[in-house]
Parts: sequence; C-alpha cells; structure tokens
Amino acid sequence: MNKKVEKAIWLCFACMPLLMACSSSKPAAHATSSLKEVFQDDFLIGAALSWTQIAEKDAVAIPVIRQQFNAATPENVMKAEKLVTSWGNYDFTQADRFIDYAKKNNLAVNAHTLIWHSQMPAFAKRIQNVDSFRTFFSEHIKKVAGRYSGKVQSWDVVNEALNEDGSLRQSPFLNLLGEQYLIDAFQLANAASPQTDLYYNDYNNEQPRKRAGCIAIVKMIQQAGGKIDGVGIQGHWHLGKVPFKEIEESILAYAALGVKVAITELDIEVLPRNFTGAEVSQRMKADANSNPYVSGLPENLQQQLADDYSRLFQLFVKHKDKISRVTFWGVHDGQSWLNNWPVPGRTNYPLLFDRKGQPKPAFYSVIATKKK
Ligand code: G3I
Repeated sequence: MNKKVEKAIWLCFACMPLLMACSSSKPAAHATSSLKEVFQDDFLIGAALSWTQIAEKDAVAIPVIRQQFNAATPENVMKAEKLVTSWGNYDFTQADRFIDYAKKNNLAVNAHTLIWHSQMPAFAKRIQNVDSFRTFFSEHIKKVAGRYSGKVQSWDVVNEALNEDGSLRQSPFLNLLGEQYLIDAFQLANAASPQTDLYYNDYNNEQPRKRAGCIAIVKMIQQAGGKIDGVGIQGHWHLGKVPFKEIEESILAYAALGVKVAITELDIEVLPRNFTGAEVSQRMKADANSNPYVSGLPENLQQQLADDYSRLFQLFVKHKDKISRVTFWGVHDGQSWLNNWPVPGRTNYPLLFDRKGQPKPAFYSVIATKKK
C-alpha cells in the first residue's frame, strides 16, 4: 500500500474516538428532543392539522406530528361550513378521517368548533326566523357533538362570541337567540357528549376588557347550573409584543373560576401588521413593505422569536397546574394560515418548525425552558 494512503487510514482510525466524542458532545439531544416528551408532566402539546395533513399528503408534517405532538385540533374540517352541505345534511368524511388519524397517532382530540358566527353554512346565514334558527343551532350541536362523543377529549363549544370591549358580539346567535344561546350551547353539548371537556375559546381574551367579558360568560354558564370546563386563550400574538403580563393575569383569573386554561391556537406573527388579534374577516392592504422576508427571517428576528417563545413557555410551566394543553396553530411555517392572512401570499415564520419540518431556534429555546 502506498505510504500516503496508509498514513491517511491510520489517521482516520486514530481520530475516530475523538470524532465520536465531539459528535456526542454537540447538542444532538436537541435535534431529537420531543415537545410532548419534554412537557409530558406539564400539559398536552397540540397542533392544528390541515386537511392535507389529515389525509397524510404533507410529507414534511408526517414525522413532525408523530415525534412532537400528543394532541390535535382540526384546523378546518369540523367547522359547520365544512360539515353541513344543506339543511339537515352533513358530510362527515373529512372529520371522520381526522378522528381516525388522531387515534392512529395517539393524539388527544380537541374538536373545533360547534358554534362560531364565522364559517357558517350559507343557508344558515340567511335564516331570519327564530324557531328555524334555533332548530339549526340545537340540531347541529346534538348531531356533531353526539357523533364524536367518547372520541374527543374536548370541544371548543363556542368560539369568538366577544367584542374587544368585552360585550357580546352581534352574531346571528346573539341576535336571534339572545345571550341564553351561550348557556344552551354548553347544555346541549354536555347532553350530547357527557365525557368531554367543554371550552369557551377566543382571541385577545388575555386583554383586560375582553377577559372581563369572558369571565362573565363563564359565570353566566356556571350560575345557570351548566358545565363549562375551560377557557381557551387562542394565543395569536406578535413578535416583540407578546402581552406576558396580561396572559399571566388571565391564567390566574380564569383558574380562579375553577376552570382549566388551554392555549389553543398559538403562533407568533413576525410580519408587519397594523392590528392585533385574529378576526378572520379583517384584511390588510399589501404594499411594498408587507412581505419583507421572502428569502428568510433575519437572524435578530429569529432570536427574538426564540426569546418570545422561551418566555411564554416559562410562564406556561410556572402555571402548569392550571394549563391543560398548549396547541400550536399549525405544524410548520409552510402550513400557517398567517401566510395568507390578513394579506394573501406572504412568507411568514410563526411556528417552531420551518418549511422543511426542521426545528428552528425557537424550538430549542422552548425545549431549554425545562432545563432552567
Ligand atoms: O378548502 C377551500 C378550497 O377548496 C378553496 O379552493 C379555497 C379558496 O379560497 O378555500 C379553501 O378554504 C379555505 C380554508 O381555510 C382551508 O384552507 C378558506 O377559504 C379559508 O377561509 C380558511 O381559513 C381558515 C380560517 O380559520 C377560516 O375558517 C384558516 O385555514 C384557519 O387557520 C382559521 O382558523 C381560525 C380558527 O378556526 C379560529 N380562530 C382564528 C383562527 C385563525 O383565523
């Protein structure tokens, strides 16, 4: 053998232990860390799943879901608009697939959502007659909650019933049925699915005025003898502006009512936006500055995202006795609704996994909160 080749082979063998030591001391544990394992003694870790993911056609998401999450919320397939094809007729194909997928992947199901003014079937939006509307309302809850009774851990029974000032939103439910609809919705859901935790879910309900409205809803249901198990704080927040103080105050205030708190739709917006919250009917005009990070998120913002997520999870762990679940609104950045709202076609970075399903610095910072 040529002397040079012989020396190279020898060097290779001699350095092997050193190479192995180096590779085992690098943060390989991070790359294989699992959110659901790291937080297993604290709360469930969920993700909202799109239809593409439920149908197992999102190759990027499949391993991430399997490794990282133990809970799931259907992003869209259980909304009334998707389920109801015409008066009295339902298509449960996609919702049933979601339930099967969750079972196969050991994911606790938070079903979303029974009563929401948005995404109602077109015919229901046109109903003016109170009795007809009440029939639609009651039959919908009985049919959908009843079908999945025993198969879902929790339901977002009523979604986004509040205005920002804490008053009740002028939805068809309020206008036609009065505020009693809130009590009735929880009562009907409980009758149809008695083993299921029942939540009221909203965005910005960590803010004082909306929080007060949310507390009033919980008390109203409790005083009527109804069953309400939790409040969902959606958690659609903004980079560098996460309202940590208000979040903590809200966790304490809701828990004081004797209900659980879930963070139900967590993401952190990194793109320019001139309003907060998640009012889906709200839009923003695109301009030359509205989509600034098409080729990647700058390092300083990536770090800010990691810091914001780290502080959030420190807070969640501090109050783990009050928090049942933390669910991200999506599995990876490529799926996020924030790529298309409030401006269509932007490149957003709100989650812990990138468009290739790789963990971002924010993922490592969340994992690291357990080591602090
Ligand atoms: O499936 C249709 C497709 O057939 C059609 O070609 C396409 C054309 O627009 O629309 C598709 O439906 C869209 C659907 O998402 C699935 O992608 C709807 O237009 C779009 O409005 C819908 O947006 C969803 C939005 O709720 C309204 O339902 C988002 O994905 C979903 O992330 C978002 O989730 C809400 C929560 O339910 C409640 N809290 C706020 C949160 C964010 O807005």
